[in-house]
Amino acid sequence: MAHYFTNEELPSKEKNEYCIIKDTKYKFVTDNGVFSKKGLDFGTRTLLESLENIKGDVLDFGCGYGPIGIFVKKNFDTNVDMIDVNKRSVLLAKKNSEINGVDTNVFESDIYSNVNKKYDFIISNPPIRVGNEILYKILFEARNYLKNNGELWIVINKNQGAKTIMKNLEKMYKVELMKKNKGFYIIKAKNQLTNCQ
Ligand SMILES: C[S@@+](CC[C@H](N)C(=O)[O-])C[C@H]1O[C@@H](n2cnc3c(N)ncnc32)[C@H](O)[C@@H]1O
Repeated sequence: MAHYFTNEELPSKEKNEYCIIKDTKYKFVTDNGVFSKKGLDFGTRTLLESLENIKGDVLDFGCGYGPIGIFVKKNFDTNVDMIDVNKRSVLLAKKNSEINGVDTNVFESDIYSNVNKKYDFIISNPPIRVGNEILYKILFEARNYLKNNGELWIVINKNQGAKTIMKNLEKMYKVELMKKNKGFYIIKAKNQLTNCQ
């Protein structure tokens, strides 16, 4: 079975999806083979509605068709990079940035393979179905791409192990639970250098 996080080709069937996030209307083109092709995922919405004090350089990790990076660029004074391993997602995120009138930089990357700068914020609805090994690579290696005091913001459902993930993140970051909504945890993990580093 083809998953949204693979590059297996499914026949394309683009659809227009409309949604309102914080009083602004967005149009997103979605397609087969991308995450939440039926429109804005509830976890992603919860994450976007929780974001505060975002500014500077932002990485939208696993951008899908682009809702996180596009919302961030529209609402905060930021430079936004967006990455995904899925080629169709990359194309849609580019197209949707244009449709929604925002200037973002979208590129293909397998985890951080094509990322070569440090960010003030990495924001993600991370891929859970890829399994723990890749998931923790994404979450722990984020630290190498965050400036000192940079913040990783993620949404995870409690059924997907939000509490355990928070505990594990505490080994490396200063972790704060920003919001809980219908089982979705919005987690902020701050990159703080210790005296030993
Ligand atoms: C849960 S979806 C979130 C999509 C989008 N940000 C949203 O909120 O609708 C996770 C995304 O991570 C991408 N992904 C999976 N494995 C990846 C990897 N190794 N490197 C980069 N992106 C990956 C998937 O293709 C998918 O688009």
